[in-house]
Amino acid sequence: MIVLGIETSCDDTAVGIVNDARTILAHCVFSQLKEHKPFGGVVPEVAARAHADHLDRLIDRAMTDAHLTYEEIDAVAATCGPGLIGGVMVGAVTGKAMAAVLKKPFIAVNHLEAHALTVRLGEDVTFPYLLLLVSGGHSQLLLVHQVGSYERLGGTLDDAVGECFDKCAKLLGLGYPGGPLIEALARNGNAMRYALPIPMQGRDGYDFSFSGLKTSVRTMLEKMTEDERKKASADIAASLQKAIADSLVDRVGHALAALQQRGLTISHLVAAGGVAANQSIRQGLLSVSANYGVMFCAAPPHLCTDNGVMVAWAGIERLRLGKTNPLDVAARPRWPLTEVE
Ligand code: KG4
Ligand code: ZN
Repeated sequence: MIVLGIETSCDDTAVGIVNDARTILAHCVFSQLKEHKPFGGVVPEVAARAHADHLDRLIDRAMTDAHLTYEEIDAVAATCGPGLIGGVMVGAVTGKAMAAVLKKPFIAVNHLEAHALTVRLGEDVTFPYLLLLVSGGHSQLLLVHQVGSYERLGGTLDDAVGECFDKCAKLLGLGYPGGPLIEALARNGNAMRYALPIPMQGRDGYDFSFSGLKTSVRTMLEKMTEDERKKASADIAASLQKAIADSLVDRVGHALAALQQRGLTISHLVAAGGVAANQSIRQGLLSVSANYGVMFCAAPPHLCTDNGVMVAWAGIERLRLGKTNPLDVAARPRWPLTEVE
């Protein structure tokens, strides 16, 4: 069983091809960073046009990399939401056109479900598992019961965690996306130098909050001269990364304790989404899961950020269960995981 997956929901144009023996046959990503750089952020209209300009070429390259003919593809999967609707429509329409011409099934993939299931491409992670979904637009704790069945435990009350990394990177005069740049800078920094607040630590429930942390960083920087800021930037990056990791670890620990009390046996804690690429956060999650006797798992960093392989794999998971979609399925800017079916 071979599925081609298309991802166009934000600023990466991506195509992946995967088989049900868990082999990645193609993994092509075109990052639109250069297109958006002059604007200082992702511009939805620019993203949609860039997806339309690059997607055909990327599909061709993926097919060449995989040494496949189009007849050998069993189904076409495309992200149909949530995301920037112009881009989502480019990917969805292209995927539907391919499926129609090839007379193969079409699979409408939820972008968040693709992040949630990626780990199963590389590891034997069985249901149910606890999922920490942390990306540029989302911060959620979910219980994954089955493909298509998600129970939301908590989410962010304000900014997403990736957004906090990105906004603080901007305050520090770094580029975009901020997460990897802060992680690199933090390697030379002292995480104990600045005692930043650890959002929501010790609070009931499983929600997150990151806008207060961003404000603390801004206030701290405003009190410094340009020269002081430059000298302190690695220590600030390290302290910020630590505060974020400590907050995520606290919230996850809380959820793991509650699940144990509920009598629910889970084997794994899974981290997914772009922020799950962060090594220091992974370390924190590894130790908290060990404390509760569960295994920690995350996809390799290049499959944590947006890519086509995760869409193709979600396509395989759905195709195996006979979950395909008609060609009039809608592209959706909002599409919560709890409404995937
Ligand atoms: O999943 P993703 O590629 O796109 C969305 O669906 O949002 O996540 C992008 C987010 C950005 O906010 C980026 O700064 C963050 O993930 N990110 C990281 C790292 N790599 C990407 N954050 C922290 N550490 C990283 N290494
Ligand atoms: Zn994503």
